[in-house]
This record gives sequence, C-alpha cells and structure tokens, in this order.
Amino acid sequence: MIKVDAVDKMNEEERLKYMLLLLKGQVGSEKDVLANISNVTAIIKACVEDLNWAGFYLMKNGDLVLGPFQGLPACNRIEIGKGVCGTAIEEGKTQLVPDVHLFPGHIACDSASNSELVVPIIKKGKAYGVLDLDSPVKGRFKELHRVYFEKLVEILNQYTDWEKVTE
Ligand code: SME
Repeated sequence: MIKVDAVDKMNEEERLKYMLLLLKGQVGSEKDVLANISNVTAIIKACVEDLNWAGFYLMKNGDLVLGPFQGLPACNRIEIGKGVCGTAIEEGKTQLVPDVHLFPGHIACDSASNSELVVPIIKKGKAYGVLDLDSPVKGRFKELHRVYFEKLVEILNQYTDWEKVTE
C-alpha cells in the first residue's frame, strides 16, 4: 500500500522526488500498460498540488485518444498539431504553458485550467502519446516540473511496452 501522508510536510522538489520513488515502486513490478499509467495518474495527483487534471492521451490510428486520467471528463480525441497536446507530438518536445489563454489553438476541456504541462511519450523515435497536466494556477509549472515529469516519462518508458496497450 502506498503512503502519501508524507508529502504534506515536503517542499515542491521533495514532492517531485517522492513521486518518482512511488512511480518506480509501482511500475517496476507490473508490465500492463493500462495498470501502470492509471497508477501514474493517481501518484501524480497524490504528490502534486494545484492540479485540476492529470492524465494520458495515447496515439491510436494517427490521433491522440483519451486514456486514464484524474479530473473532469475531457475531450476524447486530439489531432496531431492541434492544442497543446497535439503540438507536443508534432514538435516532439515538452510544452510548458504558463498561461493557456495565450497559447494559440489551446483546447479548453476544463474551464478551470489556466496553465499546462504536456510531455510527449517517445520511445525509440516513435510517439506513443502524451502526459498532460493542467492547473487552475497561472504559471504553476516551472522548469523544475519539466525536468521531473520528463524523468517520469523516461522511467515509465523503461518499463512499458507501449505496443502491447491492448493485450
Ligand atoms: N488542453 C489540452 C487538451 C486536453 S485537456 O487539457 C485535458 C490541449 O490544448 O491539447
């Protein structure tokens, strides 16, 4: 059983480190993609404050399709190049957006969202989806978060065979 009470007394970087520790414990012993990424959303939500949405979109037949998440219901599909998520896939790089209202083409799934961090999931040159975090706080995500969430995706990539998502 995961204990998350400990995060209450931690500063931001300690919380992010603890998140990676929990992640390794959880995904290191399971190979199933949906089980792992579902737990990742729960671990993020438990460790990181001020998030109204945390989840995955997975590449399916050329579109990003909604995967496991924590938060309100969100749009089902996003085209490559559209919104913050589709841009992360098109450019193959993390999108750190301090104010979503200033991002051309931002897709508003939850009107509470004011800032966003999207990390593309790329393994051996192939894009498998994105990790998407939304916050009601403008400027919530900093360089520190980019570093830790890219590390999270790197660890997830080590243990996850994305080709087996439907097995
Ligand atoms: N804002 C995202 C859409 C997904 S929701 O935030 C959950 C985007 O612009 O791609």
